[in-house]
Amino acid sequence: MCGIVGYIGENDALPILIDGLKRLEYRGYDSSGIAVCDGDKVFSVKAVGKIAELEKKINEKNPLNPPFEGGQKITLLPKEGEGGFNIGIAHTRWATHGAPTEINAHPHHDCTGKIWLVHNGIIENYQQLKNHLLEKGHKFISETDTEVIAHLLEDLYDDNITETLKKVLKLVKGTYGLVAFHNDEPNKILVAKEGSPLVIGLGENETIIASDVSAILRYTKQVIYLDDGEIAEIKGDGIKIYDANDSEVDKKVNEIEWDMTQAEKQGYPHFMLKEIFEQPETIINSMRGRYIVEEGKAKLGGLDNIADKIRDIEKIIIVACGTAKHAGLVGEYMLEEYAGIPTEIEYASEFRYRQPVIDKKTAVLVLSQSGETADTLAALKEAKGKGVLTLGIVNVVGSSIARETDAGVYNHIGPEIAVASTKAFTSQLTILALLTVLLGRQRNMSLVTGKRIIEELQVLPEKIKKILDTNENIKKISEKYFSMKNFAYLGRKYNNPVAQEGALKLKEISYIHAEGFAGGEMKHGPIAMIDENFPSFFISPRDSVYEKNISNMQEIKARNGKIIAIATEGDEKIKETANDVIYIPKSLEMLTPILASIPLQLFAYHVAVLKGLDVDKPRNLAKSVTVE
Ligand code: G6P
Repeated sequence: MCGIVGYIGENDALPILIDGLKRLEYRGYDSSGIAVCDGDKVFSVKAVGKIAELEKKINEKNPLNPPFEGGQKITLLPKEGEGGFNIGIAHTRWATHGAPTEINAHPHHDCTGKIWLVHNGIIENYQQLKNHLLEKGHKFISETDTEVIAHLLEDLYDDNITETLKKVLKLVKGTYGLVAFHNDEPNKILVAKEGSPLVIGLGENETIIASDVSAILRYTKQVIYLDDGEIAEIKGDGIKIYDANDSEVDKKVNEIEWDMTQAEKQGYPHFMLKEIFEQPETIINSMRGRYIVEEGKAKLGGLDNIADKIRDIEKIIIVACGTAKHAGLVGEYMLEEYAGIPTEIEYASEFRYRQPVIDKKTAVLVLSQSGETADTLAALKEAKGKGVLTLGIVNVVGSSIARETDAGVYNHIGPEIAVASTKAFTSQLTILALLTVLLGRQRNMSLVTGKRIIEELQVLPEKIKKILDTNENIKKISEKYFSMKNFAYLGRKYNNPVAQEGALKLKEISYIHAEGFAGGEMKHGPIAMIDENFPSFFISPRDSVYEKNISNMQEIKARNGKIIAIATEGDEKIKETANDVIYIPKSLEMLTPILASIPLQLFAYHVAVLKGLDVDKPRNLAKSVTVE
């Protein structure tokens, strides 16, 4: 959601902070700010809007000449002889408490202007703490919950900001990823985590802290993931990490697998288009080494150490949000039809607050690209509290969900930057199919069926390439329809979730009203909306419900509704009913969602481009929703 970058080291902090913010901008982007400390004064700038606005303001306020353009050195070095380091913190905000204004943007500071911090998460008891501090004479500037921490630090300060922070965090209830410094102690920067991700990157003579590894990658691949309750004191010459009981802990240094080029656009105009076109490769990466064709078996290394427990699973509850929830819905159909395991799918935000009846033979499977979605994480913790087996399908290695689950499978698709999820969705479906084979073969699935699914999975990348080759046709269709105000997306069985996902993609990036319905439900209400200005997408490949889809199309056509059909190659009959057709290659019914979702991703993309919208960073949305 919001993004954090912190720096301590021998290099100039400002360019590194700005670079980091740009890489995190996709997470939240209604305002941003920086604070850099030179042991004497603090240079802070905040701006509403994108990071480019912040850069402009830095130029206006910057005491330096020539002005800052990004990239070049800014000399705000510590004063000679002080032995300090360059220190700075930066933040990109997605508003929760208080409007996206300059005053509410982070970093926030105390009354003296010496203690500065950036914060992700929500301080739940901030009002109570604020009232107490106001009574003591503290002056608050912003409406944020964050500012309360700065004043608490000031209130309890005892000449050692590390020890003060430990005391303050005992008073605070809620979630935080926090980076702070005190201008009187310019040799250290403090980091604390509770329920909001933070990574510490270990560079040469410098340490970069961020809420997401993409802000660190350019400088180092060596990272430490902080765990909940931990506080790190980072000095130029070393790091000390304390757990919630104030004991010093030895943390493992991890090596990040992703590289910078994976996180850049590689010539595509938008990350979303790049990520759509990456799918032949990401599907391969999600499957690599994970099956034995001759035996019709899947092998998911991340589940090896719980192999016995998996055999005993009698029910699965899949929990996820957004696009991942739609993948889970397909997973429900796959697991019930092919593995014979009763499966339910539920919104994480609902699961966490109701009283689900879960017995010990139930496994809870969470799906999350980022591994940081607050609702999904909370649902996972709820499940863990009930003592059941928890599994995950997660893309971001080392993320909170990846670490909290008992076992899991990584997507291995590299960073997904565009807010609208594309390659993560098809990868989640691929892994769910492999999981279905793994669990199915432990139960009643035959060798022949197992083999058939795997062989079909193997040829998917080539089939996806064929669909991507029709991009120009999809673009032309989007030109025909982009001015429409409403869309219906319809599909049955495995493609009901695809209809929902197609509608979500269009809503997210083009702001057009679109709804996904199960084809059979149309006549029970939604059909009342249909007229010549309300087109419908039909996901109607040649599968077991093809004829039913055709009947539903006729019902729409009879009401003058326009129809765009996603159909199987060679299906000429569909042209009699549909106004426009996008063909996809034939596949096994359970795998068609992987193919059928791709034209819908491209359609949404082209519509958003035609409308001149910011495809990768749609308004009001964030890539990783780390608040409730
Ligand atoms: C946000 C994103 C969606 C995403 C959802 C779940 O709402 O905008 O694109 O599907 O979170 O994210 P996750 O990282 O848990 O898959």
